[in-house]
Amino acid sequence: MAIVHFDVITLFPELFAPHLTQGVTRRAFESGAVEVELWQLRDFADNNYRRVDDRPYGGGPGMVMLADPLQRALAAIRAARAESIGVPLVHFTPTGRRLDQAMVRQFAQGQGAILLCGRYEGIDQRFVDRHVDLEVSLGDFVLSGGELPALALLDAVARLQPGVLGDAQSHEQDSFSAGLLDFPHFSRPPVLPDGDVAQAVPDVLTSGNHAEITRWRRQRSLEITVRRRPDLIDAARAAGELSADDERFLVSLRL
Ligand SMILES: C[S@@+](CC[C@H](N)C(=O)[O-])C[C@H]1O[C@@H](n2cnc3c(N)ncnc32)[C@H](O)[C@@H]1O
Repeated sequence: MAIVHFDVITLFPELFAPHLTQGVTRRAFESGAVEVELWQLRDFADNNYRRVDDRPYGGGPGMVMLADPLQRALAAIRAARAESIGVPLVHFTPTGRRLDQAMVRQFAQGQGAILLCGRYEGIDQRFVDRHVDLEVSLGDFVLSGGELPALALLDAVARLQPGVLGDAQSHEQDSFSAGLLDFPHFSRPPVLPDGDVAQAVPDVLTSGNHAEITRWRRQRSLEITVRRRPDLIDAARAAGELSADDERFLVSLRL
């Protein structure tokens, strides 16, 4: 079994356990397919107060994570695991490249990474320039720390591991896996108890005709994607992933 190993540098290691021990993704962590080792940055402080931050040069609000404790933490990780020498150091920051499914797939198929969770105003730029291989953002908003972005990456990587999802095809039909957004899902009952037939489950889904169901789902994926994320349609077209049928359907929408 290929193991994906993540070392996480954080000021809040206790935030991780609840997320790694619940839901389907816990299977990846319990089986060891995805290993997570947490490193408390304060253990690498050089003062009795275990302080790892200081005021920014140039003034202004907030504190900055010091380069020195970060360097000691990184050296300890590299020394503890020979395999960590070649893996990338990933720094979570709103200024980074947006996390997407293609990036998640690369991590899921790789050896792992060292994940650096920022806090305060961020970390001393000299550490970034010297050691960081990749800066990753969760989106265009500001969180108070890099722990949630790290957990988002760990969760997304875990669910791609073989045997984690009950049905192996489950993630293949997820949004972004085939370049499009997911189609809508329905379950029982066919009509909700208030009798609203306008919201009844589409007949095709209860028809038992698998070819028609596949076609309906593909068309719903195309429709929702072209309306909400036309950039993904352009990318799928450029990658040659749209069939003549798909193109005819898109034209028929007359957008
Ligand atoms: C309060 S934020 C610092 C924000 C930073 N001063 C800025 O404006 O870009 C503290 C830490 O949270 C993490 N963080 C916040 N928002 C994030 C996002 N959208 N993606 C990834 N990490 C984020 C980063 O590690 C960051 O160092």
